[in-house]
Amino acid sequence: MTTATVEALKLTDRINRIEPSATMAVVAEADKLRSQGIDVVDFGAGEPHFSTPQHIKDAAIGAIQGNFTKYTAVAGTAELRDAIAHRHNVDFDSDYRREEVIASVGGKHALFNAIQVLVDHGDEVILPVPYWVSFKDIIRYAGGHCVLLEADEAQSFRVTAEMVARLLTPRTKVIILNSPSNPSGAVMKPEDMMEVVRLAHERGIWVLSDECYVYLNYTGKNFSVGALREYKDRLVVLGSLSKTYAMTGWRLGYAMAPAAVTSAMAKLQSQCTSNPTSIVQKAAVAALRGPQECVEQMRREYIELRDYVVKGLRSIPGVTCTTPEGAFYAYPNISAFLGRGGLKSASDVAGRLLREAHVATVPGEGFGTTEHIRISYATSKAELDRGLERMRKSLVAL
Ligand SMILES: Cc1ncc(COP(=O)(O)O)c(C=O)c1O
Repeated sequence: MTTATVEALKLTDRINRIEPSATMAVVAEADKLRSQGIDVVDFGAGEPHFSTPQHIKDAAIGAIQGNFTKYTAVAGTAELRDAIAHRHNVDFDSDYRREEVIASVGGKHALFNAIQVLVDHGDEVILPVPYWVSFKDIIRYAGGHCVLLEADEAQSFRVTAEMVARLLTPRTKVIILNSPSNPSGAVMKPEDMMEVVRLAHERGIWVLSDECYVYLNYTGKNFSVGALREYKDRLVVLGSLSKTYAMTGWRLGYAMAPAAVTSAMAKLQSQCTSNPTSIVQKAAVAALRGPQECVEQMRREYIELRDYVVKGLRSIPGVTCTTPEGAFYAYPNISAFLGRGGLKSASDVAGRLLREAHVATVPGEGFGTTEHIRISYATSKAELDRGLERMRKSLVAL
């Protein structure tokens, strides 16, 4: 569409401030190739390869059979909000109550609502780079200004409190933390997270901690800022069932925050989606209150896959890769290939890998860096082998 046509449509300034999700764009292009009969190895999708555990599916089926199919309270049923608080309090030594919990249609929805409630025009939001694609656009949609915190690749992209402190200004309204990180897999040290929360609290700044991958932490030191009870009047903790219980398609996420924030988020939610799907809420209660062994089993398998993919990537001449300490992404540096074979950017490299090697990856530009691609290793070892071999052939030929 030309600029003139876009102007003629008179769409809002706020919709023109944002871009479609880069990861969704890769999924769409890979799907297109597949529909042409091409066998694509998919390292693009950010979702578990596991099926949702059976007891969770059974709870959803039970909800349908039991006609639990009507509207519920906007912020989720009392049963679900209690289950979210219970799980978090038990696992992370926090003390959240029902009123401090809101269930939304996925973690992304909870994030969107939280940012709309906290960020006004001109507010500064500190955002570590590389960032998950949606942070930047959601902040911009609210009129906020992203203050980018460049994480150091030599330090495995780990964000420290000192780095955050350097960027604080009187206009800072929110600090975003995302540990484990999508896309780098970096895990912040608990001491650094505590210090960020303390610094922010001292200045009346919000910390919005996206902990969607909190159960996929491979350091052995699992930590949620929700444990810092004395600072919780300036904390928003975001969570999701998507990755923890292999439930991406079900769409159930949540926020835990002061009751004034969760009720403001509920007010917004009441004017757009209303409650998350009633059936999914029952499934979520089963996930949160039921056996948790499935979470640990998946975590162990991800660790094996992480070691496998990092070794494979590092064995490709020219590719370097930090060791991700959580989530299920590797973020290799492909700068050695820029300038070769007409490739000028990470997008060009990802484009070549998709169109010529038929391997879907996500270029770093969507995450704020220019020399990386994101590999999702939530797949089988056999698929990792196939994809890595194709990547090797394509890249060494340059
Ligand atoms: C860092 C991060 N936060 C939030 C989400 C949202 O997940 P969902 O909306 O499926 O709960 C994702 C999904 O990829 C993510 O990577």
